[in-house]
Amino acid sequence: MYPDTVSLLKDGWPTPLVRLRSECREGREVWAKLEFYNPFSRSVKDRPVWNMLRRVLEAGEGRRVVYEATSGNVGIALAALCNVYGLKLKAFLPRNPPPVTVKLLKILGAEVVETDYETITPEFWRWVAELAEKEEALNLNQFENNANPEIHYETLANEIVEQLEAIGRKPDYVVAGIGTSGHIYAIYKRLRERYGESVKVVGVQPAPGSRIPGIKRVETKPKWLRNVELYALFDVSFEEAALGVIEVARREGLLVGLSSGAVYQAYKRLSAREGGGTYVLVFPDDIFKYVDAVYAVLQA
Ligand SMILES: Cc1ncc(COP(=O)(O)O)c(C=O)c1O
Repeated sequence: MYPDTVSLLKDGWPTPLVRLRSECREGREVWAKLEFYNPFSRSVKDRPVWNMLRRVLEAGEGRRVVYEATSGNVGIALAALCNVYGLKLKAFLPRNPPPVTVKLLKILGAEVVETDYETITPEFWRWVAELAEKEEALNLNQFENNANPEIHYETLANEIVEQLEAIGRKPDYVVAGIGTSGHIYAIYKRLRERYGESVKVVGVQPAPGSRIPGIKRVETKPKWLRNVELYALFDVSFEEAALGVIEVARREGLLVGLSSGAVYQAYKRLSAREGGGTYVLVFPDDIFKYVDAVYAVLQA
């Protein structure tokens, strides 16, 4: 029983860590952290959005409108939480946004502004931040806001340690996508503190020319990544990510999102090279926004 929908978020943790039985062998254990068990955007973004919003509200902020540059899960989580906290969201989207995202934002009551920016670049979010300042709106900016990795450290990263320790295991490899770098950095920090260099953190980025919602190439210089010593970095194409989604669905019955499909493909290459050990894969969201895109690859 939950007294309100924010409790559903905060008291619903930890998100599950599930063993992927089809991938386990003698000497190899594979676990997936399911971030789509968060209630609002059904993604890894509910917790940072809640934490960023909570921090400004606790500081006594009087502004009631939020301006944010977003193309996906942050916008959905923010639109939902703005409703809960009595705020209004004006979402600034890059050109040709995913139609499902636009519909979900509008269903949630957000104002949607489609811009001419190709993708979310520093130039884009700086422009939104300046506009917010000028028009006396709030701006959270997940790319710069330390409340983003902060909550991943306290929750997602800590949960991985506690969940594995509860069954007497320690991770050897963690595979995660890179967007703002918020969650991979938090995981790296927490796990290095706990296990030192024996734990290896592996990043996943879209292959050149591919777009995978939520993840970006490291050349875009995400803020916290400079503090992460990546053991390996894998390029995954859009098609490979979609095929990863289909393989997870057919082997484990889980309908995961495209960046999860990319993480899965990176894990397959990593484990083929490294062999045994305990692997943790972070699955950021589920399939529901990408059904048409995955289905198109299935039919090709
Ligand atoms: C689906 C999906 N995967 C991966 C990520 C990357 O997460 P982070 O911003 O913590 O690097 C995001 C972030 O928006 C996402 O929405």
